[in-house]
Amino acid sequence: MEWVKVLHLLCVLGWMTGIFAVPRAIIFWKREWGATGEFGPTGDLTIRIYRFSLGLGVIAILSGLYLGWLWGYPAWVWVKLAVVAVLAAHYGWTGRLVLRARRGVFTETDTWLRVFNELSVLGAIGVLIIVVYKPW
Ligand code: HEM
Repeated sequence: MEWVKVLHLLCVLGWMTGIFAVPRAIIFWKREWGATGEFGPTGDLTIRIYRFSLGLGVIAILSGLYLGWLWGYPAWVWVKLAVVAVLAAHYGWTGRLVLRARRGVFTETDTWLRVFNELSVLGAIGVLIIVVYKPW
């Protein structure tokens, strides 16, 4: 089981890279687009980070579900799963923002993107508290 947990943590780290970085990167992509009116390196990098972390996110969740099965799905895993589902929805929303940005559509303000970004940090802290303390 330990190697699955190592894989789980590695992929969680990679997924969190996208969750934490992409909403912020969209702020700079918007500025780049505003200055050039074209798709440029910041947009290219943002899409690559999103795509990279998407693959790792899938492995993080599958390995987590397997670990949960090895644990016999105690209550804390279900609560963790619920919080991770919210994180995954947040990530899906970020994906929608990336697709729209790809077409040059940037409707969210910088402040909105920063607050949206911070919400994911609160989610990740919640997951970490649940998995380390296993309160239920
Ligand atoms: C479907 C989603 C997930 C499920 C079902 C899940 C389930 C699990 C299980 C059963 C373990 C083993 C616990 C242990 O051996 O002590 C584990 C470990 C861990 N998970 Fe997840 N996980 C998921 C996603 C995540 C995410 C998104 C994060 C981070 C934000 C995360 C962070 C961790 C950490 C830090 C550990 C190591 C805990 C320890 O060794 O005490 N997991 N996970």
